[in-house]
Amino acid sequence: MLESWPNELGPVICVVGARPNFMKMAPILRAFAAYRPAIPSILLHTGQHYDRDMNDKLFEDLRLPHPDINLEVGSGSHAVQTAEVMRRFEPVLDEKKPSCVLVVGDVNSTLACTLVAVKKGIPVVHVEAGLRSYDRAMPEEINRVLTDQIADLLYTTERSAADNLAREGIATERVRFVGNVMIDSLLHNREFARSPAESIGNGGGNPALICGAAGYGVVTMHRPSNVDQANVLTSLLGVLREISDSIPLIFALHPRTKGNIERFGLSHLIDTPRMIMLPPQGYLEMLGLMAGARIVLTDSGGLQEETTALGVPCLTMRENTERPITVEQGTNTMVGRDVAAIRHHAVEILAGKGKSGRLPELWDGRTAERIAEDMASWLLARHAGSNG
Ligand code: UD1
Repeated sequence: MLESWPNELGPVICVVGARPNFMKMAPILRAFAAYRPAIPSILLHTGQHYDRDMNDKLFEDLRLPHPDINLEVGSGSHAVQTAEVMRRFEPVLDEKKPSCVLVVGDVNSTLACTLVAVKKGIPVVHVEAGLRSYDRAMPEEINRVLTDQIADLLYTTERSAADNLAREGIATERVRFVGNVMIDSLLHNREFARSPAESIGNGGGNPALICGAAGYGVVTMHRPSNVDQANVLTSLLGVLREISDSIPLIFALHPRTKGNIERFGLSHLIDTPRMIMLPPQGYLEMLGLMAGARIVLTDSGGLQEETTALGVPCLTMRENTERPITVEQGTNTMVGRDVAAIRHHAVEILAGKGKSGRLPELWDGRTAERIAEDMASWLLARHAGSNG
């Protein structure tokens, strides 16, 4: 066994930017620290998400260390946000001389940091590579395609990802199927999940509403395609309001959605005690809410996987998914923005006819360990190569 890392081998810069990155990075940092010798790492936050609700609460829940570096880029158009991350990330690479940059997921920060590193000859490792919705109108799809094209080492969550990457001409030697780090986080934290009644109370809702025998449903939506046009948002809120007649619905409202409901004058559609509006929830709150739900309605990528791991039926309000395994093996059903389909499937689920599904291959809570193990040999081999 290796006693210590060669002195000249720089740290791995681990990049997070937005909420869905945090639950993916936490287990990786833990696995790096537990590996012997510990894999040296620096946690860098781009500052894409910065609110207490969107950021600090999740850091606390996931017991993520305080970032070593925060680029504090904040919000902006895609061009501005991406450009700011790039501009501020470059000097960090010059100063820290990392052995590689590790990015997760598909947010703007993922692509921005990948571009900067690769152009400076620093290898990039992408965790959660190869997912494709084949919908180029989604900003995340652009981020995924471009990141995977130029990153050096690609870790995948499901086997279909390797086929997507092969179709794009990416050499199979760069691709490794390791499982899902987000499910590492879920399994690790499940016992610490907060009680739904407490989360509702803390968010200003009335917990008494969910105490009846009927249970409750959970809703999240924030995709521009669902919430940025008044007519689409109106019809989605309309069908959700109908469903709330059968089962109380708890919303965890993304700032974009909250802002648009106000801007489009749609507050009357959610003005019923059976639709409980909460601010964005912490990780442990969300875990408790999902685990206890009879139905989840969402347009999130992460929730599709988390509900599959929890065995809770999920209706995904999108036309496509980059996570097909959640539909094939898990509890996910795609319903698009079709109100009739949403209504129909919700009725089925509430009648006890929802999918129960099974846990996909390698979603076993040990993915980050496999990544640490594999990366350690990869780093050493690269180091030996550059000195040889
Ligand atoms: C980003 C990711 C998306 C992910 C989502 C999860 C991209 C392209 N999108 O979308 O994949 O599913 O995060 O939340 O990277 N805002 C705040 N506080 C914050 C952050 C944002 O109020 O801490 C508001 C701002 O008004 C901002 C808007 O939310 O303009 C959108 O934020 P942004 O980071 O651009 O994208 P998200 O929609 O959050």
